[in-house]
Amino acid sequence: MLRQLEQIRLEALDELDGIGELRELETWRVRHLGKKSKLTQALRSLAALPLEQRKLAGSRANEIKLSLRSRLDEKKRALEEACLASSLRQEKLDVTLPGRPVCIGRLHPVTQALEEICNIFKNMGFQVLEGPDVEWDYYNFEALNIPPDHPARDMFATLWIDPEAAQKARLLRTHTSPMQIRIMEKNGPPIRAIVPGRAYRYEATDATHESMFYQIEGLAVDKGITLADLKGTLFEFCRCLFGEERKVRFRCDYFPFVEPGAEVAVECLACHGAGCRLCGYNGWIEILGAGMVHPDVLKRGDIDPEAYTGFAFGLGVERIPMLRYGIDDIRLFYGNDLRFLKQF
Ligand code: DAH
Repeated sequence: MLRQLEQIRLEALDELDGIGELRELETWRVRHLGKKSKLTQALRSLAALPLEQRKLAGSRANEIKLSLRSRLDEKKRALEEACLASSLRQEKLDVTLPGRPVCIGRLHPVTQALEEICNIFKNMGFQVLEGPDVEWDYYNFEALNIPPDHPARDMFATLWIDPEAAQKARLLRTHTSPMQIRIMEKNGPPIRAIVPGRAYRYEATDATHESMFYQIEGLAVDKGITLADLKGTLFEFCRCLFGEERKVRFRCDYFPFVEPGAEVAVECLACHGAGCRLCGYNGWIEILGAGMVHPDVLKRGDIDPEAYTGFAFGLGVERIPMLRYGIDDIRLFYGNDLRFLKQF
């Protein structure tokens, strides 16, 4: 019996020596110390032995069991240490390597322009309001003196939401001007408001046209407002935005919802009036349309044109950074190319 036990012991230790992986230890434990191991079986068979032999063999078997357990623990510790040492060796960090730079976000150049323009008008006492991008035909056209067959509808290539509906058709607003009517209906005079927002047109995109772009609408209605107020406001705006020296041109134009109508252009920054690609070779860049609010438009806004007058203007926002930085393609703003956007 004792010889048999010794053999069990040697066999177990021999196998333990050959183990090089932590996860193999459990298999070894089950095989040599588990319920079905030779050692456990030997312990069970002791009952059949005579007393003296049973005592001797029993205590030897228990010694072997304890010593195998402690060898297992030792081995486990040794393997764990080796494992830690090797991962320390492999996962060494070079703390002297420079860190990766964190990219700091910034405002989009068009957002910057919107904020700057709104601030200029806020300083002149205008309030900032916003309106819906999805608009009724009524506000976008009808109430602005553009009935269904009016040729001015051709100016606005419209993205219709309800193309079939003759009346009460919805569309994506082609300009921010519909807010003129909404503000008049809701607030009544005196009014001094600007409306920044998106406008949409069903157009092929090119260097100067996008199907989505930003406008800022302006509206002032009160007793005794004249064309001089309009001109004064817009010239002051241009002075704040472009500085004292920049030449500004104010001349007649036509829009159905104003009478008289006007347009404002500034001298091209890129060529100083000589003519270049940016300004379409005429030296000037038109930045806004404006005029005195048409009496019929005031009426649509529930305002008596005999008692009140007003002016309005609508400004193309992208034009401003284009002009200022000499950007010759409007599509760059919405192309999401970080190399472009990071410059502002
Ligand atoms: N809504 C016009 C457009 O998108 C611009 C405009 C012209 C707005 C004259 C006005 C205005 O308020 O008075 O082309």
